[in-house]
Amino acid sequence: MKFFIDTANIDEIKEANALGILDGVTTNPSLMAKEGITGEENILNHYITICNIVDGPVSAEVIATDYEGIVKEGEYLATLHKNIVVKVPMILEGIKAIKHFSSKGIKTNCTLIFSAGQALIAAKAGATYISPFLGRLDDISVNGLDLIAQIRQIYDNYSFDTEILAASVRHPMHIIHCAEIGSDVMTGPLKAIKALANHPLTTSGLETFLADHAKGNK
Ligand code: G3P
Repeated sequence: MKFFIDTANIDEIKEANALGILDGVTTNPSLMAKEGITGEENILNHYITICNIVDGPVSAEVIATDYEGIVKEGEYLATLHKNIVVKVPMILEGIKAIKHFSSKGIKTNCTLIFSAGQALIAAKAGATYISPFLGRLDDISVNGLDLIAQIRQIYDNYSFDTEILAASVRHPMHIIHCAEIGSDVMTGPLKAIKALANHPLTTSGLETFLADHAKGNK
């Protein structure tokens, strides 16, 4: 299972990368705005900065919503760095653009997936990744993990190469359940990734080991 971090915060990206278990980064316009990254030039430079930190796929989202605009923007984003994955919204114009990008060997991440039908049509178009937003489904009392499982079955039935990138991950149990289901990738906040390492028995066990070692070496 690949681990992506879902942020545009450089300190958090560096911290996750330093753990040695980071495979990629996802961003979106809201995450960029949260870090105060505004204006086209600053946004493009920020993508390059991230690509120079993490040696793996970095999703950069298009703003255009029409086919020609998405293609123009996506083709430019793809020239920024070899690690760029063009993030395209799940709309019909986006599906057409994903098909175009796929035929040109440009990697894509189809975002804002909330149903199995959307995941199916994105895979048909040749998306490299699809991003089902599981936390946002949970927010409206729909089980986001059920959607991940449904998509897993559909993709396995037809051996689609499209990777399931579980997004809108909020906590460590989301990550663990995604791993059980067989999501190819998860993208989440640093806090959720770091929480995977915590266990109170590990903490107390280590304290005891260190105390006993100190006693024996007085
Ligand atoms: O990867 C999608 C993500 O950025 C959305 O997360 O927490 O805003 O639903 P959230």
